[in-house]
Amino acid sequence: MIAFTRAVSPTLANCELTHLDRSPIDVARAIEQHAQYEAALATLGCTVHRVPAAPDHPDAVFIEDTAVVLDEVAVITRPGAESRRTEVEAVAAALAPYRPLHQIQHPGTVDGGDVMLVGRTLYVGRTPRTNDDGIAQLAEAVRPFGYAVTPVEVQGCLHLKSAVTALDDATVLCNPRWVSPGAFAPLRVVAVDLHEPNAANVVRVGRTVLAAAAYPRTNAALEAHGYALVTVPADELAKAEGAVTCCSLLVAAS
Ligand code: GLY
Repeated sequence: MIAFTRAVSPTLANCELTHLDRSPIDVARAIEQHAQYEAALATLGCTVHRVPAAPDHPDAVFIEDTAVVLDEVAVITRPGAESRRTEVEAVAAALAPYRPLHQIQHPGTVDGGDVMLVGRTLYVGRTPRTNDDGIAQLAEAVRPFGYAVTPVEVQGCLHLKSAVTALDDATVLCNPRWVSPGAFAPLRVVAVDLHEPNAANVVRVGRTVLAAAAYPRTNAALEAHGYALVTVPADELAKAEGAVTCCSLLVAAS
């Protein structure tokens, strides 16, 4: 597995914020947490490839939003935030050796954070970042490979994957206040601890779940369910409205 990442920009404090108030960000601490995240991915067997840095793009560290990578194709997104549109160019160049590329076009918008793959289904959040035209373009791009696209309503958070992520091919971890668990039937749904609304964002790496350390109650529940967990500190990156999935694009070796 290759994990594409991108450096924390020195301008991170100027990031897009939608559901969070702006609070001071310690960029050096964010860089340290990002390094620990990359080290955790490496420990879990990923080869970490850094896409060239984009210091003028405050949100570039959240590389997940720039592409949806499947075994057969990489769909390069057109991010919903105007400030993030040109982040995709370097990511497309980095992915080109690994996958055929497909590009979402105007007027469609898609953020990768709104796209959750479970089995052969792409659940896609309908959010201010991902519009119906973008969802239709994505569905068209992946249909030849046998993937179905299921739009999902999201409220109260930035992206679909702020509210729900996959724990395995039959189970999702979800904040039921932000997304309806019924949207994922017949998958099994594990709910976050209600004191930890942001805990639903975790990364599956093989049989291990990589989670933010800030959510001990949810993480303990996942361990009780039998999941192997690795935790990393990510609270400084969270001030920029980013979570653990946002900081990588995982690409299976083909
Ligand atoms: N700051 C993360 C985003 O809004 O895309």
